[in-house]
Amino acid sequence: MPSQLTASRSNALAGTVRAPGDKSMSHRSMILGGMASGVTEVEGLLEGDDVLATARAVQAFGAKVERIGEGRWRIEGAGGFKTPASVIDCGNAGTGVRLLMGAAAGYPLTATFDGDASLRRRPMKRVTGPLADMGARFDWRAAEDRLPVALTGGALTAIDYVQTVASAQIKSAILLAGLNAQGVTSVTEPEKSRDHTERMLRAFGAEVGVEEMGQGWVVSLKGGQPLTGTFVAVPGDPSSAAFPLAAGLIVPGSAVTVEGVMLNPLRTGLFAAWRDMGADLTISNRREAGGEAVGDVTARHSALKGVVVPEDRAASMIDEYPILAATAAFAEGVTVMRGVGEMRVKESDRISLMVEGLRACGVQVEEEPEGFIVTGAGEGGSVRGGGLVHTAHDHRIAMSHLVLGLAADQPVSVDEPGMIATSFPGFVEMMNGLGGRIA
Ligand code: S3P
Repeated sequence: MPSQLTASRSNALAGTVRAPGDKSMSHRSMILGGMASGVTEVEGLLEGDDVLATARAVQAFGAKVERIGEGRWRIEGAGGFKTPASVIDCGNAGTGVRLLMGAAAGYPLTATFDGDASLRRRPMKRVTGPLADMGARFDWRAAEDRLPVALTGGALTAIDYVQTVASAQIKSAILLAGLNAQGVTSVTEPEKSRDHTERMLRAFGAEVGVEEMGQGWVVSLKGGQPLTGTFVAVPGDPSSAAFPLAAGLIVPGSAVTVEGVMLNPLRTGLFAAWRDMGADLTISNRREAGGEAVGDVTARHSALKGVVVPEDRAASMIDEYPILAATAAFAEGVTVMRGVGEMRVKESDRISLMVEGLRACGVQVEEEPEGFIVTGAGEGGSVRGGGLVHTAHDHRIAMSHLVLGLAADQPVSVDEPGMIATSFPGFVEMMNGLGGRIA
């Protein structure tokens, strides 16, 4: 991978592509496969750097992990994790480290977790706090709340945890620990966050309850339930499909279809936002795969208009605001994105990086503590482009600006393009195969 990538104004994009496997489900299939007894076979696994780090971690915790074909993996779980021989390096993956800490906390073992420079900057107490309440011990090796951290697990007691923000990572870590805790563990969330852990736990034979109560949604599970290996078919990642689809919307004359996109309603907030903006987005061939709703999504070039994104939609599109902002740069009028303070603790501070990057491309953006507002060029206007965008190790910041560059007047460059492989290996080839100009 070169040290920079540059996207240049492209002619109409056209074609049909398949989205890479869903990252959230890929991590979970590896982790549950490793915790279970017996064999798990996974099809459609995302072979991105984040998931490969989780695969190595699960192997270090005692499972046998084997690649048996393209996107096809076999995991032989030992029915529990054991103390690994070396540090668990989760690379860039927040989901990987947080879910693995939850899973590992339930077993009598010690393990040190670490990650790359970006992951070392991200808060971990949101997960280690509740896990410590259950009885796990954490020893911060450099600074409190930051990796690396050493975990001592085992002998956990169930807790009832009430989340203030809807976070699937926190919910999942607590549930995975709860599997090996004494009693019934519950997590209450104000809005529903992605429910892949709950669904996949059921596929592995566990009982998980979900109830709507006064304070929100309560997910609960009884400790001591064994997991049994199973077959997992991972559908396409809507968060990755977003990039070719966005290019279809903003490059004049385009029609881009992404096949096999997971359409779990807790993940499709972006599509709803684009529709509100007037996007020509159609879904065909709706079906079910891997226990999830799936369909083929087509985006055609559209005259977009700015919208106020409802704040209660944030959980269902939290990773998609960067690409939404890139498309909003071409819309008529103002797009308001608020209630998204969580964006600041992702792979980078995504509010500040998008504000900086879009401004470098001549787009008018206002920054708020918990949101940002983009004023679009509209029909007849144009986005200047021309920036070198600093991505701070963040794959989605890089891809969002490259997509913007396909429709801007001047080329847009991004640094650290190697990070794109954490979630979307083959991104450049796919975009260029559709007619994009990224080099
Ligand atoms: C994820 C949950 C989200 C999301 C992340 C993947 C998951 O994080 O941003 O990319 O797979 O559970 P939070 O749960 O912290 O919001």
